[in-house]
Amino acid sequence: KKLLLVDVDCGVDDAQAIMLALAAPNVELLGITCVHGNTTVENVCKNTLRVLQACNRLEIPVFKGAAKPLLGNAIDAGHFHGYDGLGDVPDANAPGLDMVQKEGAVSAMIRIINENPGKVSLVATAPLTNLALAVRMDPSLPSKLRGLYIMGGNTESRGNTTVCGEFNFTADPEAAYIVLKEYQCPTYLACWEFTCHSKLSWEFCDDWLAQDTHKARFMAQIFKYSMAASKSERVEKEFVAGSGFVSCDSYAMAAAIDDSFIIESDHYPVTVELTGTHTRGMMVVDTADFLKMACKVFIIKKVDLNKFEQMMMASLK
Ligand code: BDR
Ligand code: CA
Repeated sequence: KKLLLVDVDCGVDDAQAIMLALAAPNVELLGITCVHGNTTVENVCKNTLRVLQACNRLEIPVFKGAAKPLLGNAIDAGHFHGYDGLGDVPDANAPGLDMVQKEGAVSAMIRIINENPGKVSLVATAPLTNLALAVRMDPSLPSKLRGLYIMGGNTESRGNTTVCGEFNFTADPEAAYIVLKEYQCPTYLACWEFTCHSKLSWEFCDDWLAQDTHKARFMAQIFKYSMAASKSERVEKEFVAGSGFVSCDSYAMAAAIDDSFIIESDHYPVTVELTGTHTRGMMVVDTADFLKMACKVFIIKKVDLNKFEQMMMASLK
């Protein structure tokens, strides 16, 4: 089985990505590390436990990580995910935070990867604070990963958080900078514009949610808020290329689950803008090798969308 470790800021699309991993027969999910992002890290832990509960998989360990970025203050994406990160739907039966492991996310990441050298794929669907801290604690970590799959960054300087900044990179630009510099392992990026060009149609979403299962009912509840937000004028402006739902984090997860999911990618060195009047947090793609950076990443361009729909469908069965 493929061993996965997942780092999330559990909003609605992180929840969808986690459910993809839980449903994949070829995957063993070793743990979920949580970080600030869409909402507070406490809410992220709670949301992750709720997703595991909805899938009857509370045996998977959940670890709490960084509450803030390396510099400055945390931002959130409450306008899109709901202020609790999962659509602001009250849940009286949510598991308590006492179910979160005592071990912190960064040490758990280092321990789990070192226990399985060369075997773990790390999927990061959140600001990269935990990953940046982990590589500072253990610089050998990237060399022990099978692969790194990140949802984040942008390729056409289109932002969803600032003019040019995608949320995960903008929420902690220094962490994204460190990760892209230090993680010299096979790295795959699902960037914002690519995810927008690979939308799920609303017709698909209706069929997906109409399945008569507990998981589908759970998803239909937590998804209401961001479905409405996606159709709002404000968010439609952020989204590229027509209507439909962008389950951003699920593309990075699907790529980690299935090696044949990516059909086409570019291979370039990338970094992150740390200053700039309008561009802090923007990903910079060095197509002509001006910066002489050692490490290239795979920037996903095209994926198997039929397979994606099948995987998404199966995740709510
Ligand atoms: C990213 O930001 C978050 O709101 C989503 O969960 C996704 O990880 C998209 O820019
Ligand atoms: Ca996310």
